[in-house]
Amino acid sequence: MNGKSALETRLQAALASREERWIRRRLPDPALSTSSTHPSPLADFTSNDYLSLSASSKLRTHLLQRLSTAPDILGSGGSRLLVNGRAHAQLEERLAAFFGGEEALLFNSGFDANVGFFACVPQRGDVVIYDEYIHASVHDGLRSSRVAPDSQFSFPHNSLSGLWDLLSRLKAERRGLRDGESSLFLAVESLYSMDGTFAPLTEMADMLEEVFPLKNAYLVVDEAHSTGIYGPQGRGRVALLGLEDRVLARLHTFGKALAATGAVVITSTLIRDYLLNYARSLIYTTSLSYANIIAADCSFDMLVDGTAQHLSNRLLDLSSYFTNTLQPLLTSRQIPPTLVSLPSSLSSPHHPPTPSPPHPHLPSPIIPLPSPIIPIHTPHPRPLSAYLLALGLNARPITWPTVPKGKDRVRVCLHAGNTRAEVDRLVRGVVDWAEETLRLGVGVDLGVDLKLGGGERGGGGGGGGDGVRRTGRGRVLDGVLESKL
Ligand SMILES: Cc1ncc(COP(=O)(O)O)c(C=O)c1O
Repeated sequence: MNGKSALETRLQAALASREERWIRRRLPDPALSTSSTHPSPLADFTSNDYLSLSASSKLRTHLLQRLSTAPDILGSGGSRLLVNGRAHAQLEERLAAFFGGEEALLFNSGFDANVGFFACVPQRGDVVIYDEYIHASVHDGLRSSRVAPDSQFSFPHNSLSGLWDLLSRLKAERRGLRDGESSLFLAVESLYSMDGTFAPLTEMADMLEEVFPLKNAYLVVDEAHSTGIYGPQGRGRVALLGLEDRVLARLHTFGKALAATGAVVITSTLIRDYLLNYARSLIYTTSLSYANIIAADCSFDMLVDGTAQHLSNRLLDLSSYFTNTLQPLLTSRQIPPTLVSLPSSLSSPHHPPTPSPPHPHLPSPIIPLPSPIIPIHTPHPRPLSAYLLALGLNARPITWPTVPKGKDRVRVCLHAGNTRAEVDRLVRGVVDWAEETLRLGVGVDLGVDLKLGGGERGGGGGGGGDGVRRTGRGRVLDGVLESKL
């Protein structure tokens, strides 16, 4: 024995294997995080604080005032089923009305909400289909659900024709779905966290109703990244498109644009009641503290009073500015798309190309919205991110397994609090890095093994490694650029 237990040996081997494959995750340096008392010298192009509400003195003052007069702020006393705080119930009532839903149910996080919903609502014999880029929490929920593995299907990202084919096949193959004796759930994200793409929600709702006229197919929309930014008063894209009555459940999280913590599911009275009885991630956990509930409530005040709308306009304006500046520069400087590229959906920013209609009755989706999430595709996300960091720009590399192999990127997240000057520096940094890389003679032959593979979506896991197996010159490139920092 070498003194190590079997467990230690195995855990260390797994971590070493990740290190070897350049995918080991590590926490970022806390010094890179900004706070009101210790503002980071770095421009933030990475957090999900899209509206920069975490730095809002208006929200901060409002929250402190509310906390100072609230009857309860500490703890919550237990699970909602044990202690149902008045503040919790009032926030649910407020949110059901705000989002135009029948009922609202709070969860401690968006992750818990997705796990809780997908683990219990779909029943034995039902089918769940999901966009291939769906968040890890939906996968985790399905893993412990009663839905058989052979009744869980993904379809290509945002592909209406792929969805149409899958729905038609399932209808042909499964009598229960045809007869309305079993149900189908379609899980999508309103705005995809790693790609900044929008699900064509209206077309999806139309398609479910057309293929399953008995109304046994249900749309479930995760609005984690769209809450606060899109729709009237930031109510999300379901509200923007007027789909409230055609969606079974919507998830709104508080930890991203709302600068709080927690989440709410907007759904029917029956589903809420069922979740209260069967969603283990709700039943067997202490509910959010009173302080958390007050914080979320104060953030919703910012949505209602128009503060968020103002910030959202600024944010989306900045997003358009970024893509409208970077894309032409990449073209005019002849940067090969194999080295750096923006997604093709951004090639004409306000009118992304529309997928071909899968069915003659269905209109093409036109989505004239800018997104604050912009992936810069490159097979070398780590060196690019490190180069930007040295310029005072914090944009993180995202790699497999957070995104599929071969789809590595630096994920740029814009914020209402970013300035145009920061965005200009970011654009210049990306282009300078690309030109320097080309000058180093690496060219477009980057020595990268681009084996395609599935990803594991989730917001937190991007920064560990660059996720591609390098050969020869690719590895050299990392060394050369990193040694310059
Ligand atoms: C699409 C999506 N859904 C759900 C979640 C989880 O939300 P929360 O951070 O509140 O747990 C995230 C966060 O990464 C997300 O990106």
